[in-house]
Amino acid sequence: MKLTCKYLASCRGCPLGHLDIEDQRNQKKNKLTESLKNNLPAAMIKNTVYDFVFPVFDRYRTRCDFIYSEGKLGWIDQDKKFLPIEDCPLHVSKLSELASLITKLPWPVKRGSMRLRVSPAGGLGLWLDLANLDIKEILTNSAILSELLDKEVIVEMGQKGKRVVRSGNTFKLTDPTPYPWFKTEVAGHPVDLNSLISSFTQTSPELNLKMIQHLKSFLVDQKFNNVVEFGSGVGNFTLFLTSYTSALNVIENDQRNLIPLRQNIAQFGLQSKISIFESVHSFFKENKNTAGLYFVNPARSGVGPLFDQPVPAQSIVYVSCHLESFLSDVAKLSSHGFSLVKVTLFDQFPHSDHFEILSYLELAPQPAAGGGV
Ligand SMILES: C[S@@+](CC[C@H](N)C(=O)[O-])C[C@H]1O[C@@H](n2cnc3c(N)ncnc32)[C@H](O)[C@@H]1O
Repeated sequence: MKLTCKYLASCRGCPLGHLDIEDQRNQKKNKLTESLKNNLPAAMIKNTVYDFVFPVFDRYRTRCDFIYSEGKLGWIDQDKKFLPIEDCPLHVSKLSELASLITKLPWPVKRGSMRLRVSPAGGLGLWLDLANLDIKEILTNSAILSELLDKEVIVEMGQKGKRVVRSGNTFKLTDPTPYPWFKTEVAGHPVDLNSLISSFTQTSPELNLKMIQHLKSFLVDQKFNNVVEFGSGVGNFTLFLTSYTSALNVIENDQRNLIPLRQNIAQFGLQSKISIFESVHSFFKENKNTAGLYFVNPARSGVGPLFDQPVPAQSIVYVSCHLESFLSDVAKLSSHGFSLVKVTLFDQFPHSDHFEILSYLELAPQPAAGGGV
């Protein structure tokens, strides 16, 4: 089975799309296992149990970051030129319909970024990450916003993700307003997860629920005195982690995620279990204790200096979308005495050369002092 897409030769999104899906999957499996073997100490991966999950083929993505350029939505292609995209086979059909509606509007903008989103209930969202002058122009030119709001498209604007509201015949920006754009799990049940259109979320709510099941299989029925979560985003994993601890310290530094995170925590009455820190530095200033579990899901750049000192935890779950930073962070954990117990390739990015890595590490038992003959 192969992907059908007229842009395969030039689009940078699917460099493996010309291969049969089984060949793509084997290539990814080999890439992961060989990279771990070649970059990590043998002792660290001696007993690692591997799993490979390929949950999707096409029509699964519910959000997309486009470039808008002179009447079209598209991306930068392999030759670094703008490539207009009429339909991407990875997008759910409602996302493609929204893209088509947006390209028909007479935007007074030459170029800028637009994120499109579809919610699990079918809600439509548009984040216009444009220059201030363009934002001003769109707010005063009521035709475009009228048409979008008449069609019940929720619109956010600018770096802060402020919400556009109508007041009579005029439009203005109000505070960022979370909306159930995504899904997660709380206490074993799928629930709506609030975010901004401009917040980080995983690629698809359905895949996310599957990924959570897999992460739960790492933790089984363990209970931890306390858990530290780095890179919580809007609380996607935070909420299910409260089933494993009564004290969760969360580190997240982006306001577009922190606003919905606080709302999600309050909505489920979890304020007494969760403390939020807006930087690693502020977390360590107040917390000197060891944790049962570190749960990290960093951006592509990895965890930064978090693993530069010994990590005061017994177990670590590391969820990564970027193999290179995963390898260098996990190599540091090896020097702090951790072993890779489980590694799962969970493919949220079919046809690309990326994949999500779900991993579980434990502090290897230290040899007894003075022991041995
Ligand atoms: C891959 S996202 C994961 C978000 C969330 N776990 C989820 O599943 O939606 C990485 C998150 O790490 C946050 N982040 C990146 N660097 C950070 C830092 N230095 N301190 C705290 N959070 C950071 C980002 O803002 C983002 O929310």
